[in-house]
Amino acid sequence: MGFYSEKIVPRLVTCACGTKPILKQRQKVVPLATGAVLEIGMGAGHNLPYYDPAKVSSVVGIDPCRTSWSLAQPRASALGVPLEFVEGSAEAIPLKEAQFDSVLMTFSLCTIPDAQAALSEIRRVLKPGGRLIFCEHGEAPDETVMKWQHRINPIWRRLLGGCNLNRPILEWIKGAGFTVQSVDQMYLPGTPRVAGFNVWGSAHR
Ligand SMILES: C[S@@+](CC[C@H](N)C(=O)[O-])C[C@H]1O[C@@H](n2cnc3c(N)ncnc32)[C@H](O)[C@@H]1O
Repeated sequence: MGFYSEKIVPRLVTCACGTKPILKQRQKVVPLATGAVLEIGMGAGHNLPYYDPAKVSSVVGIDPCRTSWSLAQPRASALGVPLEFVEGSAEAIPLKEAQFDSVLMTFSLCTIPDAQAALSEIRRVLKPGGRLIFCEHGEAPDETVMKWQHRINPIWRRLLGGCNLNRPILEWIKGAGFTVQSVDQMYLPGTPRVAGFNVWGSAHR
């Protein structure tokens, strides 16, 4: 990893992930997590303050980026339930199957290089009846926005640590065999439309 991707990108992404509209999205999804939780691409731990300690027994965060983990420390100490960091990739989760009640994934599927492999790994580590709780930005339904997403994606991805603007999030979640339980979508206010189309909800294993 070069200096830009190792030191600058995690800080850029941390700033982008801490904006008001994004924090509002976290408030909607993170409290849905229950029991033993795995968080995919935990990054700088922006979700940690929103877990409900009355409903969650433990949190494991997986991320390949060690710098993110150190950025998460201030939020980690206030969590109130056991928290473990696993340095690794969602495409090959180094944990045994059927051990989580909830998997939380926010703004990570855009970046994971092999998203299909990650979704299949998420299903593997969820207990029967377990839930994937997600909030992601992705391909917009409006043709003009979508056209721009495809046009600028190559440069966007290079500058922002592999983040893609144009992934069909819901289609991929369903395609991985999940049954969607609830879903909502909108353009986030105050966010450029190319990066602001959000889809969130929950899906059964
Ligand atoms: C835009 S950040 C979002 C961080 C966090 N989920 C949030 O909501 O603030 C994307 C995160 O995905 C992580 N990531 C990249 N590739 C990954 C992979 N293969 N497996 C798991 N996480 C990955 C990045 O290191 C980064 O922390």
